[in-house]
Amino acid sequence: MKIYIETYGCQMNVADSELVTSILDNSNFKIVREIDEADIIIFNTCSVRQHAEDRVLGRISNEMARKQTNKNLKIGVIGCMAQRLGENLQNQNKGIDFVVGVDQYKHLPEIISNIFENPHFESETMVNNKEIYEDLYPIHSGKLNAFVTIMRGCNNFCSYCIVPYTRGRERSRPADEILKEIENIGKKGYKDITLLGQNVNSYDFNNVNFAELLRRINRIETIERIRFVTSHPKDLSDEVIAVMAESEKVCEYLHLALQSGDDEILKRMNRGYSADHFYTIVQKLRKAMPEIAITTDIIAGFPGETEEQFQRTYDLMEKIRFDYAFTFKYSPRSGTKAAEFTDQVPEEIRLTRLQKLIDLQQDITLQKYREQIGKTKQIYVERVSKKSAEEMAGKSRDFKITVFPGSKELIGQFVDVKIIDAIGWTLKGKILE
Ligand code: SAH
Ligand code: SF4
Ligand code: F3S
Repeated sequence: MKIYIETYGCQMNVADSELVTSILDNSNFKIVREIDEADIIIFNTCSVRQHAEDRVLGRISNEMARKQTNKNLKIGVIGCMAQRLGENLQNQNKGIDFVVGVDQYKHLPEIISNIFENPHFESETMVNNKEIYEDLYPIHSGKLNAFVTIMRGCNNFCSYCIVPYTRGRERSRPADEILKEIENIGKKGYKDITLLGQNVNSYDFNNVNFAELLRRINRIETIERIRFVTSHPKDLSDEVIAVMAESEKVCEYLHLALQSGDDEILKRMNRGYSADHFYTIVQKLRKAMPEIAITTDIIAGFPGETEEQFQRTYDLMEKIRFDYAFTFKYSPRSGTKAAEFTDQVPEEIRLTRLQKLIDLQQDITLQKYREQIGKTKQIYVERVSKKSAEEMAGKSRDFKITVFPGSKELIGQFVDVKIIDAIGWTLKGKILE
């Protein structure tokens, strides 16, 4: 039977889709890349904002039409929205055949076989705060870069966030297993890995902390580049900053979510740090790694946010000058603390503030890219450029897409490229011989 998986949400979901691919592949299902070939369509969903849910619900409704011509087609929902809404999803769309939550993926083969034998609706969303999918190795979708899950769940309960409810409690995978997985990946030719967790800085398994894990991964010969997401400012230690600076494979790149530049709002968000503390970390990072690129997440219009408080976020973004910022309009998530706050900011104001942040960041990002002109950057060549067959594209260590004249044979290699121009958010350069 052929299965098509469509993935939404964060890298954790991308990694989970690879895990699910491996689980299904082991049970003799075939994963296909074309939706038209599928006997089963699986949507791996996200709940982080209402918009994310609405979008995938729309997609599911559209694909339901296929059932008219393909009577045996089954449609399933997995991921965070499956976990959050469970069997209630069937009220949203009667055509959904199965719903499987984030801790129950091992049961997917059995559930799918059951509903083919005897067509009925099945839902399995029990929470299992111990599930770390031990001994299962994901089948990676790319050939050059791989995600490696080092922990699952989150204990932080930021007051706006649904993730601790959909993903359950934080648990770290054994360090040995992570290292074994990365060694295997390395043997297959992957040179660039990204470690995944909702808060990787609180990784802890039998006294191996995140800094120590990084040191050990840095020793794996076949791996050339290491990045990780996501870091939480309250847990990013000096030790981790030092290890980043001294480990040659750990890239000069960090995603560090600020969320707000106002202390009162940060407190109401339950973030556990002040704007000053955040700024101090940024300074330490830049001192230890002058070439580091820092990206962030910001929420506009959190409940109770006044114009002045918003301005503090704006000012801090201007002062820090992130390389890029993912900016979001606050979206109330039922069940979270912030959704209960009575001082919700009106939608139009949330939107206006969001637009201001987008405009500000756009300028800064463009400037940051222009500042790269004249530098020589090491590029991991990943693909032919979308615009020209004579050009290759890849990423720098600080995660900037760079395009330069070259041939396909370079794919998978590291080359030094001199940056000669910046067009929008793409660097242009030429290879140094
Ligand atoms: N664990 C990661 C983030 C996971 S969610 C971290 O802590 O960095 C990704 C981003 O979505 C968050 O950083 C936040 O900026 C945004 N987000 C989460 N819940 C949201 C909500 N209810 N409304 C708007 N944005 C939200
Ligand atoms: Fe959500 Fe906060 Fe956990 Fe990130 S750290 S997943 S924002 S609760
Ligand atoms: Fe979305 Fe779940 Fe990730 S809610 S952001 S897919 S952890």
